[in-house]
Amino acid sequence: MIPLPLSTIAEITGGTRHGPPDPEGSGPAGNGPAGGDPVVTGPVVIDSRAVEPGALFAALKGEHVDGHDYAAGALAAGAAGVLAQRPVDGACVVVDDVQEALGRLARGVLERLPDVTVVAVTGSAGKTSTKDLIGQVLSGAGPTVYPPGSFNNEIGLPLTVLRADAETRHLVLEMGARRIGHIAYLTGIARPDVGVVLNVGTAHVGEFGSRENIAQAKGEIVEAVPEGGTAVLNADDPLVSAMASRTRGEVVTFGRSPGAAVRAEDEALDDQGRASFTLVTPEGSAPVALRLHGAHAVPNALAAAAAARAAGLGTGAVAEALSAAVPVSRWRMEVTERADGVTVVNDAYNANPDSTRAAIDVLVHLARGRRAYAVLGEMAELGDSSMAEHARIGQHVARSGIAGLVVVGANAAAMAEGAGQVASWTGECVQVDDVGAAVTVLRERLAPRDVVLVKGSRVAGLERVAEAILAEDGR
Ligand SMILES: Nc1ncnc2c1ncn2[C@@H]1O[C@H](COP(=O)(O)OP(=O)(O)OP(=O)(O)O)[C@@H](O)[C@H]1O
Ligand SMILES: [Mg+2]
Repeated sequence: MIPLPLSTIAEITGGTRHGPPDPEGSGPAGNGPAGGDPVVTGPVVIDSRAVEPGALFAALKGEHVDGHDYAAGALAAGAAGVLAQRPVDGACVVVDDVQEALGRLARGVLERLPDVTVVAVTGSAGKTSTKDLIGQVLSGAGPTVYPPGSFNNEIGLPLTVLRADAETRHLVLEMGARRIGHIAYLTGIARPDVGVVLNVGTAHVGEFGSRENIAQAKGEIVEAVPEGGTAVLNADDPLVSAMASRTRGEVVTFGRSPGAAVRAEDEALDDQGRASFTLVTPEGSAPVALRLHGAHAVPNALAAAAAARAAGLGTGAVAEALSAAVPVSRWRMEVTERADGVTVVNDAYNANPDSTRAAIDVLVHLARGRRAYAVLGEMAELGDSSMAEHARIGQHVARSGIAGLVVVGANAAAMAEGAGQVASWTGECVQVDDVGAAVTVLRERLAPRDVVLVKGSRVAGLERVAEAILAEDGR
């Protein structure tokens, strides 16, 4: 973060400075010499174990833990102060609501960094992957903040913003939404110069009620783009391209459609499922060979190219940077080969119907001439459509003709039913209760050169299956 004294943090957040008690016993606690006015020079953290000297520790009150209980430890570890909802024993700024104060502080910090270009990404699937691509591309043009992971909510987003400092030229933010108004709240903290909408799928449809409502929510990102800014929209997704009417910024489309301003031509997949294509922009064209797996990385790369172009980068530099980009955040399409040639595709970070189909397509592509297993857990938060969506994925797996489907957990059971409906499928479907049982099933069946996909929602934690299988290393 840029260095700020606690008194300024109090001003920005509308909070009150409290200091440690005066050791002489005279005078009020507060901004006096006993309290001092410590300067925050380090990061803003919500986990006291992550405190570094000069940090600001934000004491959030969660369901199970109260950050205030860790304030003393944070100060002892060198925190310059605590952002808290009640005075703690040490230098602090007391606010009504720590989460909102984080947002206000992030906005205040950005206001002090007028030269930072803010790029914000939303969509149902691929936000983190695309944020990581944009971050890697923009890093070639100047210091860029884009921490690994999602950080896309009312806590993670301000924490990301607060990593920016005077050196920073680009800030790449992921914005998620579980309700209408969520993204508007986030753009109120960090107004995007470039707003990107990837796609409108069915993730969280249970909470939104319909895809139209999801589109309404995601479009808030381009409503926040000011005149002179850029809205980057997916030309291949009608609910996204329709958002053009909701922005004052310049609209730049990306996609496979011939009409897209930034598009891919001559797309091909290598035997590892990595895409190559010719990147075409209004300025020219250049070859791209991605190191990321799956055809679904192509629209993400095109969105990244359009965003980087809006931030001033040329087509050749963008194509080169995309070709050099590697996976940054864990458990998204991590393809690892065991000593015996078993290939494990660990895509267990999360799952919804769109990303699960995309992952199965990668599995099928990788497995040409080899035996393939899909280990699938539940796709959470699908509401009323949950059973039907799980069944459709089961059908998709069975129609793809792979050797086996391992369905993990009761909430995914409808996948097995769906697979069972495809009479032509000769593969095997096994239902297991948990990760341990899935590993046992795989142990019994896997032979050299098989390919295994592991995927499910975060709650399923299926990365543990991938890790267990890889740890055996084919012995
Ligand atoms: N354009 C895409 N279409 C479909 N699936 C995708 C796309 N991009 C990435 N995925 C897959 O979706 C999953 C999640 O990817 P990623 O973490 O990038 O998405 P996200 O939108 O950030 O998710 P979250 O909402 O959990 O933050 C991964 O399995 C990834 O391989
Ligand atoms: Mg994410």
